[in-house]
Amino acid sequence: MNRIVLGVAGGIAAYKAAALCSALVQCGDEVDVVMTADAERFIGALTFAALTRRPVHTSLWQAPEMIPHIALAREAAAVAVVPATANVLAKLAHGIADDLLTNVALATRAPLILAPAMNTAMYEHPATQANLRTLQERGAHIVAPEAGFLAERESGVGRLAERDVIVAALRDVLARSQELAGTRVLITAGPTREALDPVRFLSNASTGTMGIELAREAIARGADVDLVLGPTVVEPPFGARVVRVTTADEMCAATLARAAGANIAIASAAVADWRPALAQARKVKKEDAPPALALERTPDILAALGERKNGTFLVGFAAETHDLEAHAREKLVRKHLDAIAVNDVSDPASGFGTGDNEIVLLWDGGREALGRGPKRALARSMWNVLARLRAARSNG
Ligand code: C5P
Repeated sequence: MNRIVLGVAGGIAAYKAAALCSALVQCGDEVDVVMTADAERFIGALTFAALTRRPVHTSLWQAPEMIPHIALAREAAAVAVVPATANVLAKLAHGIADDLLTNVALATRAPLILAPAMNTAMYEHPATQANLRTLQERGAHIVAPEAGFLAERESGVGRLAERDVIVAALRDVLARSQELAGTRVLITAGPTREALDPVRFLSNASTGTMGIELAREAIARGADVDLVLGPTVVEPPFGARVVRVTTADEMCAATLARAAGANIAIASAAVADWRPALAQARKVKKEDAPPALALERTPDILAALGERKNGTFLVGFAAETHDLEAHAREKLVRKHLDAIAVNDVSDPASGFGTGDNEIVLLWDGGREALGRGPKRALARSMWNVLARLRAARSNG
């Protein structure tokens, strides 16, 4: 049994929230319905009260001594807003909390599921699309509307997703949100910069996206996440403890300092392998270019994690351009890893600095090709396998 807050906003699809509510009750969930004032113009609170046999919440001021928004937010295993109107999406995206529903959504740490329903033009408007992107980046789960007949008597995108699609999305989110509960995950991501002088550095094309997506997915699965992040403009996920670093030395110190309590560590950072042996304290004039650049090795953070690992499930990446799997298997053994994700960086359409990737996951005695796709989807597939492998490891 899960305690679910069902937020109902004011759109014509509000009547469909009653069927959803009934389905959840029949699944054994305890449903607290929170309605906006506009939702009450479309459907009566009585309908939800009868379906749930629980009080329906329509105002912050019904029983203020109960501090209803905090109580509901804390007790919920998930908050689902069905239908989510353009107005509610805009408010949630900007953190506006001017009624009970938006207060609950802001106050909760539980997963947020949003099922938008509205007129096609409103849905396709760049403002709505930007709000949806913002919410998704922040970890909200969007159940996309379908194309079909709308109240305006025309066909278009914006029709609320089917009841069973929303129920399945909610079940999936709830199952995932428990999977890594109580697990500490440490992730390194992004490039490092190794200074030549105060304005020049050696680095690489990594944006940290793969590690950031792995962190986002781990949070969605209930993990407690430390993200050690090199220089990037890509936003880390809401809910991660982020340590910003610049050099390999800084990344190494920050990572090792957090390694002891980590149940799972994933090294996705593209750490610079060499640094200038001498970093000039003052900017070098272009006329004074050195004839050659002496380099020295940076610390291998993953190898250091492998050497001192004490029960941590350790995952590395192998960005290769040839003999991918042979090199990766060698690394798996040499760095004491439990799994390694291999990606082909010779392909310009995947890998460093792109939105897509192609990953094969290898472990002792096993292999799973995760295919090619957006890094967010791959992060999800990767965690599906990693969670399974780790569970098998701790049970065995
Ligand atoms: O040995 P190689 O650099 O190819 O190994 C790649 C893996 O090792 C990646 O998981 C990367 O994050 C990690 N690594 C590291 N510190 C380094 C170099 C690589 O943690 N200095």
